[in-house]
Amino acid sequence: MARRTVGLAMNGVTGRMGYNQHLLRSVLAIREQGGLAVADGTVIWPEPVLIGRNEDRIRAIAERHGIERWTTDVAKALAEPDVEIYFDAQVTSARREGVLAAIDAGKHVYCEKPTAESLDDALELARVAAERGVKTGVVQDKLFLPGLRKLKRLVDGGFFGRILSVRGEFGYWVFEGDWQPAQRPSWNYRAEQGGGIVLDMFCHWQYVLRETFGPVRSVQALTTTHIPQRFDERGNAYEATADDAAYGIFELDNGIVAQINSSWATRVNRDELVEFHVDGTEGSAVAGLRHCRVQHRSATPKAVWNPDLPSPVDFRAQWQEVPDNTEFDNGFKEQWELFLRHVVLDEPWHWDLLAGARGVQLAELGLRSAAEGRRIEIPELTL
Ligand SMILES: NC(=O)c1ccc[n+]([C@@H]2O[C@H](COP(=O)([O-])OP(=O)(O)OC[C@H]3O[C@@H](n4cnc5c(N)ncnc54)[C@H](O)[C@@H]3O)[C@@H](O)[C@H]2O)c1
Repeated sequence: MARRTVGLAMNGVTGRMGYNQHLLRSVLAIREQGGLAVADGTVIWPEPVLIGRNEDRIRAIAERHGIERWTTDVAKALAEPDVEIYFDAQVTSARREGVLAAIDAGKHVYCEKPTAESLDDALELARVAAERGVKTGVVQDKLFLPGLRKLKRLVDGGFFGRILSVRGEFGYWVFEGDWQPAQRPSWNYRAEQGGGIVLDMFCHWQYVLRETFGPVRSVQALTTTHIPQRFDERGNAYEATADDAAYGIFELDNGIVAQINSSWATRVNRDELVEFHVDGTEGSAVAGLRHCRVQHRSATPKAVWNPDLPSPVDFRAQWQEVPDNTEFDNGFKEQWELFLRHVVLDEPWHWDLLAGARGVQLAELGLRSAAEGRRIEIPELTL
């Protein structure tokens, strides 16, 4: 069996996403399964070079996982002759510089979202990559969630009839950091460091809505900072300058209305940390991270408003679970495998830096909508 080694310069692997989802659950998991076998019997073998700012931390990760090459010098990693792909999961504010350096070195690029802090920067990255002729990819992990894949299956199978509306509820309580440590990094709550729930989550909602239901044509958002003071990793109080909740309404093609609440200041009374309720003329569905439940029009109860009596109906019990019908792997790993195939085999791929820029566009226009108190049209992006 021929082995096709692909060198990966991986930056930001000391962080939450870079370490857990990308290094451990994707790249090292692909190596543990014996590489990525493709049709002609070749095995694609990712070979990481770890990049980090702190020598002790990056060396410790490399040693812990038996990875030979690591460095604190991005240019040095990019100069390694076998490195074909630069991966970036740094804080958002550091992404532009890293990605531009990689493109300049002629490397393909795969990176976390948001691709940049502004639409201008995001488009610049996409344009420079296109001019240099390198392949690019942006993480769009929510598309690979089992619940959302089942939802997409329902849409593709015509289950809903005409889709009317989508209501999304995302969020959970992120501790302030004083009496219990916060479970997310403090930069997430500082606008000047690339934080904010709109920049973080609207990137996700953009591709989830576009790929599941259709392109987003307008946004109207109300954002706020519910918790104005938080405590950082060292226990020091800081002012939370970024939005920690966003209440958004999105108009999609075909008149579909999507409304999504995103909040780090809400307590979960749902089955999953994100849920989308979709109503169509023929049926409805509620999809989360893993589960998806449906109710067909033929099984829809006739609800009658009567506050004088306790309801005899258990509404939740009337929904039916959509079966898995397949095995779901880790979504980040699945997307890594597709990107590796795109790079090595030139297989089709459309989650590129332009797709990433669409996410930043929705975030930027969502923030503008909130600042100006009005609905804003979303123009289709081109390079
Ligand atoms: N796809 C998803 O679901 C998802 C979820 C969370 C975060 N993200 C994205 O992943 C990226 C990393 O987020 P995270 O939660 O892993 O963050 P994190 O704070 O845990 O990690 C940040 C990484 O960036 C590095 N870094 C480089 N320059 C830095 C600087 N000036 N200050 C601080 N750290 C710096 C750190 O060393 C670390 O490796 C962000 O762009 C974020 O938007 C994506």
